[in-house]
Parts: sequence; C-alpha cells; structure tokens
Amino acid sequence: MKKILVVGGAGYIGSHMVKMLTNDGFNVVTLDNLSTGFRDAVVGGEFVEGDIADSALLDRLLPEHKFDAVMHFAAHIQVGESVENPHKYYVNNVASTLNLLGAMVRHGLNNFIFSSSAAIFGEPEYVPADENHPKAPINPYGLSKWMVEQILTDFDHAYALRSVCLRYFNAAGADPEGELGWRYGGVSNLIPLVMKAASGSRADITVFGRDYDTPDGTGVRDYIHIVDLCQAHLLALKYLWDDHPSAVFNLGNGQGFSVQEVVDMARDVTGREIVVREGSRRAGDPASLVADSTLAREVLGWEPRYADLRTIIEHAWQWESRAAK
Ligand code: WQD
Repeated sequence: MKKILVVGGAGYIGSHMVKMLTNDGFNVVTLDNLSTGFRDAVVGGEFVEGDIADSALLDRLLPEHKFDAVMHFAAHIQVGESVENPHKYYVNNVASTLNLLGAMVRHGLNNFIFSSSAAIFGEPEYVPADENHPKAPINPYGLSKWMVEQILTDFDHAYALRSVCLRYFNAAGADPEGELGWRYGGVSNLIPLVMKAASGSRADITVFGRDYDTPDGTGVRDYIHIVDLCQAHLLALKYLWDDHPSAVFNLGNGQGFSVQEVVDMARDVTGREIVVREGSRRAGDPASLVADSTLAREVLGWEPRYADLRTIIEHAWQWESRAAK
C-alpha cells in the first residue's frame, strides 16, 4: 500500500485530500502545526502535530515511514496579510518549504506535489490563462508560490526530486457528504462569506467594485470544486509514479462567474435573502481570472465532476448550514 505524507492535512483543502486518499486505500500520515487547521478535520490515517520548519521532526518522520510521495498544503494563503506581513509568508511558504524539500533530499524521497496558485500570474495579460502565461505576481503570497515553483525546477535538475505543481484558481465548495468544509475564522474568500451572509452568521457581504471591464462590472473568477481539485492530485500522484517528468498544471473549470452571479446563485440555492453592500475595488484584484486547464485534461486525464457553479454552492451551503447550527 502506497504511503503519503500530507503536510497541512488539517486545513481546508488538505482535509478533503486526506479523506479522498484514505477512502482510496492509501496509507496517510498528516503533519500539521494546527496554526489554522483542526485536528478533528483529519478524518483518516495517522496524525502528527508539528511544523515543517522542525528539521529534527522531519529527520525522524521521513525515514520512519519511507513515504511514496509528499503533498504540501501547509501555506499561509491570505493575499492582504501577505502584503502587510511579507516576513510571515516568506518564512512559512518559502523557507519552511525549503526545509521540507531539504529533508526529502536527505532521506531519498523524490515525489512531491505542490499547491501552487493562479496568484503567480498577477494581473493576467490574457484569459483563459494557460501554463505558459507570464508569471508576474503582484503580492508576496503569489511570489512565495512562484519562488517555490522555481526552487522545484532546480531541485529536479540537481537532486532528481520530481514534482507536480498544481496551480489552483478559486478553490470552493465542500465535501459532498457534508463531513468537511472551510472552518478557518479569518476567511476572506467570496463563497464562504456569501454563505455566512445567507446563514445569518454575518450580516452582509460587500461587492468589491462594479466598475470592472466585465459583463456586469463585477469581478470574474474560475471556481473549482474542492473534490475536483483533490481528484487532480490523485492523478498527479499516478503521473509521478508512472515515471513522467516534473510538470505544472493550471486547475480551473475554464468558465468564469462574476461576483453578482455567485450572489444570485447563492440566493437561488439557499432561498435566503443575502444583503449586499457596495464597496470599492480591493487592491490587487484583477477584473477576470479564468484557467485554461487543457493540459491537465490531456496529460492527467482530469475531468472535473462538479464543474457547475450550482453544485459548488449547494455543497458549500450544506456545509455552512450545518456549521451555523
Ligand atoms: C473572488 C471575487 C473579489 C470577497 C484569492 C487569492 C488566490 C487564492 C484564492 C489562496 C473577487 C470578490 C471577494 C468579498 C467580493 N488564495 N469579492 N467581496 O481574490 O480571486 O483569490 O483567493 O490560495 O490566490 O488571490 O478570491 O474569493 O477573495 O474573491 O466582492 O467580500 O470576489 O473582488 O472578484 P480571489 P476571493
């Protein structure tokens, strides 16, 4: 049975990944420092509380388990915070990741799956954005992800550490079985906020700008269901184990939805009134960001199952209505 180390397995995306891996019969060890994750979100496998900055811990854990692959979800993800406190982002997202990669090299582990982000593209020059779109991150969060992608290229050349970087567009939705979802209190993403406004756990949401060059003037994003995202990781594992070269893939549905469309769909799905306030543009927000995921479909055979916005919001609502009780 293949053994996977899931770093950050107690967080939003990592916890869904751990569930999928254990359901598929993999042997899983989660390593998480619980800075933003939750112990009880880890619903399968073994749990180790700790930090990837802790070399002594990694030097015990890696030789003990001899993992067949490492998946890394343990990043700070708030763009605004990264602008205010870049040190926090470079230390965790870059230096600690480098520490993890160093330990992998020391212990001869050479399959790595990295959670990258569409934030590496910055203000898009064209959409849909393919893998070759110029990389021009406009905040420390995006730059930290792009730095790691480049480090991985060098580690492949020098140490034969092979990796797949998966560049997520807007991860959304929740476990269709209702067992898992987002829990982090400081959430600033649109769909969780809209769900909270629908459940009454917050009063309203603010639309950040109606003067964008988009059909209805509000920002357009490519929302991808968390289960589809995790499915791509399973395919990426197989890709590495089949001895293919390191690769990068953009992951989105290739279809953009505006903030207004998200709010309208959420009103329809929830049957609740959602109070909307008008705000100004949020610094650093592009008008439109949509993925070209042709490569993931062709090379990995990835086929999103929950591509429609209604399903994404239905699953998000199922989770929120449970959490709000
Ligand atoms: C979506 C749309 C907002 C909140 C960010 C990161 C990205 C990734 C995902 C982590 C935009 C609008 C939002 C609100 C709004 N991060 N909005 N009112 O900014 O596309 O992506 O999160 O891995 O790297 O950049 O996602 O959900 O914050 O915003 O009008 O209260 O909703 O302007 O158009 P974003 P988001």
